[in-house]
Amino acid sequence: MGYTTWGIIFLNFFLFLEYTSADLVYDVCKQTRNYTLCTETLKASANSSNADTKNLGAIMIRAARSRATHNLVYISKLMINSTNPDDFKRCLKVCYDDYSLIVKAFIPNALQSLFTGSNIDAAVSILLSADQVMDCQDDNCVELSPSLNDRCNEYADFTQLVADVLRVA
Ligand SMILES: *[C@@H]1O[C@H](CO)[C@@H](O)[C@H](O)[C@H]1NC(C)=O
Ligand SMILES: *[C@@H]1O[C@H](CO)[C@@H](O)[C@H](O)[C@H]1NC(C)=O
Ligand SMILES: *[C@@H]1O[C@H](CO)[C@@H](O)[C@H](O)[C@H]1NC(C)=O
Repeated sequence: MGYTTWGIIFLNFFLFLEYTSADLVYDVCKQTRNYTLCTETLKASANSSNADTKNLGAIMIRAARSRATHNLVYISKLMINSTNPDDFKRCLKVCYDDYSLIVKAFIPNALQSLFTGSNIDAAVSILLSADQVMDCQDDNCVELSPSLNDRCNEYADFTQLVADVLRVA
């Protein structure tokens, strides 16, 4: 066989791999509560195209980390803008600590569980991280910043989606 033939065989094999992994994203996402958000999140990751189900789970967990980090930055901005020291005590410090804990403990735990333990353990860590932000959503916080409350709700919703992917994967 000449180089061209080998080239075509190789190319077909490569296209086949691409096709199956794209399929995997759709198959997994079809079984979650938010197909659109699921496929958008996985496709946004450069290496979702050659990921197996474990790695799809890891991409979702990292996406949750990125969302938690954005919320942490947002809380820092609220802290900088705040002119009332009571706001710190009532809400901002609590929220800051919650999201720090998520980024530094819950998410690393989830990733470790995914690769060394079970997907269920990883899903539990992620879902517990959403419980953690509930005390940053009491009346004081909602009053201080409704948009922070929205962001907390979005984070909590996203953790449910991550858990769906982990259950399927
Ligand atoms: C999916 O997530 C997007 C973005 O958060 C949201 O706008 C949409 O309403 C969600 N769809 C469903 C079916 O929950
Ligand atoms: C995807 O990329 C990240 C960061 O670049 C890396 O840590 C991870 O191992 C990669 N995953 C796969 C499946 O290649
Ligand atoms: C902080 O204050 C600036 C200037 O008033 C404003 O543009 C910005 O949106 C505020 N940031 C937050 C997170 O509230």
